[in-house]
Amino acid sequence: MTNRAATIGQRRRDGHDKVTGAARYLADLPSDGALEGIFVLAPIAAGRVRSVDAAEASRVPGVLRIVVPGDLPTVGPIAHWAAGQSVVPLMDDRVHHEGQPVALVLASHRLAAEEAAGLVAVRYDIGPARTDFAALAEEAIEIKDWAPSNTLVGSVAAGIAAGSISVDAEYRTADRHHAAMEPAAVLARFEADHLLVDTSTQWVFGVKAALAAAMNLPAERVRVRAPVVGGGFGAKGSTWGHEIIAAVLARETGRPVRIILPRGHSFTLHGHQPATRHRVLLVAAANGQLTAIRHHGISAAAMNEDYVEHGTLGSRTMYQCANIETSDRIVRLNRPQPTFMRAPHEGPGMVALEIAMDELAVALGMDPVALRIINNAAVDPTSGKPFSSKELTRCFEVGADRFGWARRSPEPGSMRDGPVRIGWGVAGALMSTFRFAASARATFGRDGRVLIESAAHEIGTGVATTLALIAAEVLGVDPLQIDVRLADTDLPEAGGTFGSSTTSSVGSAVQIASTRLKERLEQLAGEPGLHPREYPEVLALRRLDSVAEVGQWAPKREDGAFAMNAYGAVFAEVRVDPARPVPRVSRCLGVYSVGRVINPTGARSQAIGGMIWGIGQALVEDARFDPAAGRFLARSLSSYHVPVNADVGAVQVEFIDENDPVASTLGSRGVGEIGTIGVGAAIANATFHATGMRVRDLPIRVESLLG
Ligand code: MOS
Repeated sequence: MTNRAATIGQRRRDGHDKVTGAARYLADLPSDGALEGIFVLAPIAAGRVRSVDAAEASRVPGVLRIVVPGDLPTVGPIAHWAAGQSVVPLMDDRVHHEGQPVALVLASHRLAAEEAAGLVAVRYDIGPARTDFAALAEEAIEIKDWAPSNTLVGSVAAGIAAGSISVDAEYRTADRHHAAMEPAAVLARFEADHLLVDTSTQWVFGVKAALAAAMNLPAERVRVRAPVVGGGFGAKGSTWGHEIIAAVLARETGRPVRIILPRGHSFTLHGHQPATRHRVLLVAAANGQLTAIRHHGISAAAMNEDYVEHGTLGSRTMYQCANIETSDRIVRLNRPQPTFMRAPHEGPGMVALEIAMDELAVALGMDPVALRIINNAAVDPTSGKPFSSKELTRCFEVGADRFGWARRSPEPGSMRDGPVRIGWGVAGALMSTFRFAASARATFGRDGRVLIESAAHEIGTGVATTLALIAAEVLGVDPLQIDVRLADTDLPEAGGTFGSSTTSSVGSAVQIASTRLKERLEQLAGEPGLHPREYPEVLALRRLDSVAEVGQWAPKREDGAFAMNAYGAVFAEVRVDPARPVPRVSRCLGVYSVGRVINPTGARSQAIGGMIWGIGQALVEDARFDPAAGRFLARSLSSYHVPVNADVGAVQVEFIDENDPVASTLGSRGVGEIGTIGVGAAIANATFHATGMRVRDLPIRVESLLG
């Protein structure tokens, strides 16, 4: 967009407050009479709480109560789909993982609660713990959930017989933490028999449903809001123990209760991306055509929870092949509960597929871009369905052109800048498209302002801005004339703000609501083609303060005839100094096929953020779980690292001009997560090109290139 006003309209509405520190998260607010709860966490991986000595902690001034296992009325296990974990903490004396709550201090002040939490003396009976993912990999089990755990087309044996070149290797990705700017907090209160919960969530209606189920309350007596959310990345996509315990304690005490998860607690109480291991076999004919794909993936899971990292989703659908076999399994361990983390499933899984594709290109003596283009599937090879729209080949072509790929000399180590070796790598990206039923209300007021309301969430992705742009386009008004209210279960219902779904789903609902509003205003005026400037006069004429219309959107049943994904091609340049063999990313380019781009500024910034996260996956983010200690070693951002500016070279983003009317009435599919996929593999492949050393285990560590 060149129009300055339009560009200003694209600015993130929450951006200024969040970057200046003016945003007030729940944990920043004065307690205002609320009781403050702080958890005490177990230092052991498995066993039982033998005793809790709370005498010293109770003497801290302001401490009202120390909640120990078994104190509270039984809640759960929660079978509800909105629950991030089914086991509610403090219900019994069993310890399933290190960092699990074993007590909670309630005090009149936060500092008192924190001090007392450090004084609660807990004794344990330590039990046998399963902590070693690598050693227990053979014990992987199948879980039935939303995605198939196994797929098979054709026969891998036939594919092996039909091909001549193969690669067969194991790939790994590390445990990673979400590391949102705001960890999390919840404030729960009862007003008469109504429960009101403010919490940092990506899904107010999910929290409402889970709380109603857990506490045996009619849903209409539960209201959930997410006033300000400082990043979610999937950790806030479901309901967690602190939200349930706060509500239970608010009911018990009759007082508002706030539970804050300090940064350290967010490492074990709020999900993480589990470590994954993948065995991938690719077989091709001498011309590069794939004849077999076999991808078996496993992920580390908690003892009593079923979160599966479906790492093989991309291998089922990305490339044309007559013989594809995949499976996803989990290994039960005494570890904290993993969960969705930005670009779950394909994010880790495509690391394996796309490094394997690079290895196949090397084995074939073929250009890795050409290999991917000739194998691009025109229909989904596993389901046989056509794609709603898939511009993957264009992504590779445009990307190769912008990156200057033709100037690459294929021999590893052949491109240098003095002693520094330069590597260029490429990878494909794919992210399943999710869409949810959504509704929104558009209101025109006599003051000339438009109000858009929906229970979507501004978690930092630019939702408020994008929804305003959609309404502005329909109504023909300046986006800055539009106010947006979100994240409250009293507003029209929307799905969770996750799965890269919000622009397509809630955006379509806003588009419908705005269209109806415009029609209604024209109807009231008695003439079509009314200029938006005249809307307030129409209201005055009709003696109305405001006019509101609701729009509802849902995926159509017929859409099930199509396979739907976002796609991308990622190109990376690394520089490796042999004196200090750690790759540095000097350039990264992502070209994406995501349907129509609604908010160019927001989409670009989402893609850049995703690519930086991908650099983190490739080089930085490494939550080391020590099997002997039975714990993640890091529980602060000084020991769990995310990429900083110094890790990030030039980042360039392009979107293919595209429209996908099957995916949504807006023509968009979803931008949020695709940017983080493919980057890890592209950097690993670039590192091979620079050094001749094949890394199959991300992140690339200092020791990875020592030989
Ligand atoms: Mo994201 S893992 O869909 O919040």
